[in-house]
Amino acid sequence: MRSVKVKNYDEMSMEAAMIVFDKIVHSNRLVLGLATGSTPEKMYEYLSDMLNKNKVDLSHVTTVNLDEYVGLSPEDAQSYTHYMRRIFFDKVNIPLENTNVPNGVAEDLEAETKRFDEGIEKLGGVDLQILGIGRNAHIAFNEPGTSFDSNTHVVNLTESTIRDNARFFHSMEDVPTQAISLGLNTIMNAKEILLMASGNNKRQALLDSFHGEVTEDVPGSVLQRHHNVTVLTDIDGFN
Ligand code: GLP
Repeated sequence: MRSVKVKNYDEMSMEAAMIVFDKIVHSNRLVLGLATGSTPEKMYEYLSDMLNKNKVDLSHVTTVNLDEYVGLSPEDAQSYTHYMRRIFFDKVNIPLENTNVPNGVAEDLEAETKRFDEGIEKLGGVDLQILGIGRNAHIAFNEPGTSFDSNTHVVNLTESTIRDNARFFHSMEDVPTQAISLGLNTIMNAKEILLMASGNNKRQALLDSFHGEVTEDVPGSVLQRHHNVTVLTDIDGFN
């Protein structure tokens, strides 16, 4: 693991945007794994600006998102599909058919998880995966206890994740209790991983993930087994 210490959230977002921008302009074909949540918001803002200023065509880029809430349709403002369109896809020159987010309102959720994994395989895997991390060290929506061998699956969200994400909803009762999430095995198959973490409330999750025991109780700790992970963080005392 390589860790890069940045001054603050803004610098982390700019650094991440530059890394992704560089990959995009120096590849003939790229499969980008994308994350949601508050952490990457500013990164998408900087990245959109860079791509637009340089008139970059994104037809060679395919995106694959980490997760989606069960029961929220793309039209729902709280869905991750809506988030991605609002914050990135609609702002840049990417064909919508090149973007993939799990379908949280699929009639057969199990079939949807299989379709998603097969789609990633057909693409030849993810080249660069962007990740955030939850306070309980969850990555995507893989909660503590998730098998390191897991592929894309339907997840029951923990109370702490529901509480953390309630800030995006009117009330805690509105937060879906399930999600479709890429599995830890799926994430580990990415060729390169860029994890962003900002603010002291993520400190313990980072320490446990990268300096603690590798255990399924700490989903982020699986990343210690990946050969190409960069952590961009403003958290003191992490390196
Ligand atoms: C959410 C998402 C994750 C994200 C994490 C942290 O539940 N499913 O992909 O990395 O929790 O969120 P935030 O960046 O808002 O702190």
